[in-house]
Formats: sequence, C-alpha cells, structure tokens
Amino acid sequence: MKRLDGKTIILAVTGSIAAYKAVEVARLFLKRGARVRPVMTASARKFLGPTTLSGITGEPVHADMWDSSIEGELHVTLARGADALVVVPATADRLAVFAQGRAEDLLGALALCVSCPVFVAPAMHPRMWAHAATQASVALLRSRGVAFLGPIHGQVASGDEGVGRMIDPEAVVEAVAEMLGSSQELAGRHVLVSAGPTVEDLDPVRFLTNRSSGKMGFAIAAQAARKGARVTLVAGPVNRATPANVERVNVRSALELQTELERILGPELRGADALIMAAAVADYRPASFSDTKIKKQGEGASLALVRNPDILAAIGARRTGPSPVLVGFALETGDEAAVTAYARGKVDAKKCDVIVANEASRALEGDSNTMYLVFASRDDAVGPISGSKDEVAAVIVSELAKLFERTPRP
Ligand code: CTP
Repeated sequence: MKRLDGKTIILAVTGSIAAYKAVEVARLFLKRGARVRPVMTASARKFLGPTTLSGITGEPVHADMWDSSIEGELHVTLARGADALVVVPATADRLAVFAQGRAEDLLGALALCVSCPVFVAPAMHPRMWAHAATQASVALLRSRGVAFLGPIHGQVASGDEGVGRMIDPEAVVEAVAEMLGSSQELAGRHVLVSAGPTVEDLDPVRFLTNRSSGKMGFAIAAQAARKGARVTLVAGPVNRATPANVERVNVRSALELQTELERILGPELRGADALIMAAAVADYRPASFSDTKIKKQGEGASLALVRNPDILAAIGARRTGPSPVLVGFALETGDEAAVTAYARGKVDAKKCDVIVANEASRALEGDSNTMYLVFASRDDAVGPISGSKDEVAAVIVSELAKLFERTPRP
C-alpha cells in the first residue's frame, strides 16, 4: 500500500447523492498519512453536512470564496499547498464548469489555479454521463490531463442501471496514491513527447500514413507524469485515451508536428527539459495537395513526393548545450549488430543523446517490445531490453532521469 505522508489533498465535494462517499474517501486518505483539506460546493451541502467532513479531517470546510476569516485569496492559498485536487463525486454540471474554465465559485477558481494533478470521480445518471455535452466536457478535460476515475457500470440512485455510478472510495484513494506515492524523480522537469503516426494528405479523401499505434509514446508520457514531470504529449491521429496528468496536443502531418514542437520548445529550445521523439514521422509527403478528389486517369499512376524535414535532426543541430535532452527512436530490421549499428548512425546524424532502437517485427502494433539503447556518451549498447510497452517505457524514463542528473536545469 503506497503511503501519502506529507501530501496535502484537496478533497472537493459536489452535489450528488454519492457525496456521502466522500467521507469514506477522506478517511482512507487520512489512513495513508495525507492531510485532507475539504472544499464543498453550495449544492454539495444539500447532500452532506460540512460538520461531518470537518469532524473527520480536523480541518475547516471551505465553501465560500468570500470567507473573510481567511487571509489573502482562498483559492490561491489552497492551490499553493496542494499535491492533488480530488473531486469526489463530480457532477455533470461540475465537469462542464471545469471544461469551460468558469470561476464562479471557490471550486471553479481553485481548479483554474492549481498546478497539481487533478482527479475527478464522476457520479450521475447514465443518460447524463452518455450525453454528448458531458462527453465533450470529458474529452476536453482528458486532453488537458485531468484524470478520470470512473464512473463504472452499476445501479444509480434512481434505481436505473448503466455507466454513471461512482467508483469505490478505495479505488479513488488507490489511484491517487499510485500517482503521488511513486518516486517523483522528474518533479520540476518538463518532458515533451511526440507519439503516433503522421498523416500526409493527398486530397480530401486520401492520405499516406504508417502503422504506428502511438502506444510507446503514450506509455512514456504516462510514466513520466507518474514520476512527477510536467508532460506535454504531441500526438498524431490515434484513438487512444490521454494518460492522466498529461497535456495533449493533437496534430496530423509531419509539418504540423514540427510546428507544434518548435512552438513549445521556443527559439532557444528552453521550453522543455527533454524531447522524446517516439512519433513515426513520415519521411515524405505528397508534393502537392489537391483540394478536390483526384480522378482516376489511364491504367497507371505515380505519386510525386517531397522530403519532410527531419524534425529531430533539425533540433539536434540547433542545440548548443546539453538541454533539452533528445531521445530518438529507430525501427530497424536485422540482427542485434545491425540494429545497434543503424542506431549509432542515427545518434550521430541527429545529434541526439540516445536512440531507442526497436527490432521492427516486434514493435509495430503489438504490445511488447525488444529494444536497445544506444547513447552518444557510451560506446556499448544497453540491451536487449524486453517487456510490455509499459515496462519498456519505465526503463526509458528511468534512463531519462539519469541523463537529467548530468544536465543542469535551464
Ligand atoms: N524523425 C523526425 N523527423 C523525420 C523523421 C524521423 O524527427 N522526418 C525522428 C523520429 O521521430 C524518430 C527518429 O527520427 O525519433 C527516427 O529516425 P529515422 O531516420 O526517420 O528512422 P527511419 O525512418 O527508421 O529511418 P530510415 O528510413 O533511414 O531507416
């Protein structure tokens, strides 16, 4: 069981019948050693008495943004000391408030003010959860890194059944502890990850792409976030949930990917401490894009392609010091000697710190990987390292932490 000693959790309760479960969540957080600071919305107080929460946590319940007994701005003060904001339960209305960024009450303002991980445990009638409006809020919040804990399938207060029931208090606390309780060796670092394929459009209905699933990059982003990094994930078109506490930017083409990465890194490459280029960037794109669908003509056809910029190599060439740490990926065929030799060539050509070389037949689409790490700073390759993409991602992130030890903070 992961402990939460020294951690401050803001437990925010919103107005749902499941509000009573927040009491158990508070108790379980306290059992793990956390300090719990309760916040209630106006409607939460119709379901649960503040005295219950203050009694159990030994802390005042904050409900009023205009509370004159508090010095300074309450939402700012609360946000400053928080290691996690956990909203239990979260109503459909509250998800909409968060998605819109409204600050009309204490919790709305607090959600805009915190820089710690945010967790929400939704509870509502299944039809409210399934509604397009709620799902739009959920998608937006997920893309901003909010971690959704549930809801699960089951019976809700009205007696109806479906997805909308709040997950068990124990599962809420376990998920938060899993995130906060792991070693935070990347705290204070900004890790930029690219993932997935790029799509190069030919006309309104056709495009060139590749079979990258994005799994590896997403696993690395999730792992870096668990280790306390601020993570920005720039993803090509993949149907994959954004990992908890990861900020996601969607792109389509190689040129769009380059624009986004350059924007985040900035002209002096000071916008991130590391760039992990797990994206499978198309080397070529159609020489021109046709606004109208290209009609068939004759028996054969050929396609004119032009080279895409090598994004990683361009950044490697511009870097003047050790930051940002640059990690590239290579997909190769052949035996160990061939795979690592190709990777060594790429370390040199792209001026990066390490190339993660995958043996092609096992890396595409599947869940497991065999890889070698080829570093600029050492002659021998590390590997083979085999395991699920999550396990391999954990190895890559711990190697990144080691590279950081040698890299001064910008
Ligand atoms: N990469 C990039 N920009 C490109 C192509 C690749 O930044 N236009 C990055 C990838 O994200 C990856 C690494 O470079 O980190 C892969 O190198 P690359 O030379 O493209 O590998 P392959 O495509 O496998 O190369 P080759 O076709 O030469 O084997």
